[in-house]
Amino acid sequence: MKIDHKKLRELFSSFWEERNHKQLPPAPLVPKEDPTTLFNGSGMQQLVPYLLGEIHPLGERLYNIQPCFRAQDIDEIGDNRHTTFFEMMGNWSLGDYFKKEQLQWFWQFLTQVLNLPEERLYVSIFAGDRKNNLPADQESKEIWKKIGVEESHIFSYGPEKNWWSRAGIPNNMPENEPGGPDSEVFFEFTQIKHDPKYGRKCHPNCDCGRFLEIGNSVFMEYKKTHQRFSLLPKKNVDFGGGLERMIAVLNNQPDIFQTELYLPIIQAIEETLHLPYQNEKNQSLMRIIADHLKAAVFIIKDGVLPSNKERGYVLRRLLRRAILKMYQLKNNDIVPSDFKLILMKIINLYRNIYFTDEDFNSIYPIVEDETIRFNKTLKNGLRIIDRLTQPTGKDIFALYQSFGFPKELSQEV
Ligand code: SER
Repeated sequence: MKIDHKKLRELFSSFWEERNHKQLPPAPLVPKEDPTTLFNGSGMQQLVPYLLGEIHPLGERLYNIQPCFRAQDIDEIGDNRHTTFFEMMGNWSLGDYFKKEQLQWFWQFLTQVLNLPEERLYVSIFAGDRKNNLPADQESKEIWKKIGVEESHIFSYGPEKNWWSRAGIPNNMPENEPGGPDSEVFFEFTQIKHDPKYGRKCHPNCDCGRFLEIGNSVFMEYKKTHQRFSLLPKKNVDFGGGLERMIAVLNNQPDIFQTELYLPIIQAIEETLHLPYQNEKNQSLMRIIADHLKAAVFIIKDGVLPSNKERGYVLRRLLRRAILKMYQLKNNDIVPSDFKLILMKIINLYRNIYFTDEDFNSIYPIVEDETIRFNKTLKNGLRIIDRLTQPTGKDIFALYQSFGFPKELSQEV
């Protein structure tokens, strides 16, 4: 059976329905009532009060597929697996089941529902954090062994890799933030050879691309108060797995931009620019364009307009970075109509899930307007430079600053 993204959504939903979970309506990508967060970056975002102990009206077992955007990942885009926008498949236990059921069920989903080969799966567990008095997660290790995972496929990592909270490692967590040790599952792309530039030995968290993380079970049982960790009133499970990554794994395709939720976008970029993706020097730029425009379309759909602050600024940055990368590839003027086909393909991919065809009519004019504005800014800048006989690095930097860009972006052009 070929599992496409629509089928995967169905399989995931029915798996959790069969286990008495209620579907939690996904939160908007742009949180309406939470001024502390610019974008929804995780399925658990809307569940924080309930992870801390409040009773959820839908009960203790929940699941959903949540559109997420992580602005902090913007600089990692360009490789074969990172994206700023993604859909997170999530399930939660709010004080109901814990490690044993969660790890067993997720394994069952991977190996029995999706039929992934066990020998290509690896898991990681929390090695503990002595500084914060947080013990190693020996229990998860024992559960994985009972499930049948070979010891050589179980890896332990410290808090940088196997602790999850919205703020990251335990030391970075603010007061009253929930968090906990986590256990991740990775898929091994055996066709990718380890690159020693990433370290002598390859392992699930190596950055060479041989391993891809496909799911993260967080055991949310701690809260930070007065610089110490105490147990929450209930032990919770917060699971999240990237839908696009799961599609990549199902196709044994390490480049997620070559899978169905990106390929039509990449093809539209190729067609617009008359350049092939299968040429290494175009690849990372095309991935950035595809990622940024997809994220921008979702953000615009949620009502954000490009501006110089907060959400609008992030949107502006995504659009302008995409335009710059288009310039870099085309080596000629970028006009708004260059984005038409690409935007149509993005909207079409998610038709009947998040978009209707009419959405193009409200999204395109915003991209059009931003392209015109940015072209004007670029041209004005170049005119200033042109007047200088010998522009120095300082002049160029001043020019980039006049774009309203932060320093790191100015270095890219
Ligand atoms: N909250 C965890 C994550 O975002 C698991 O969903 O990875």
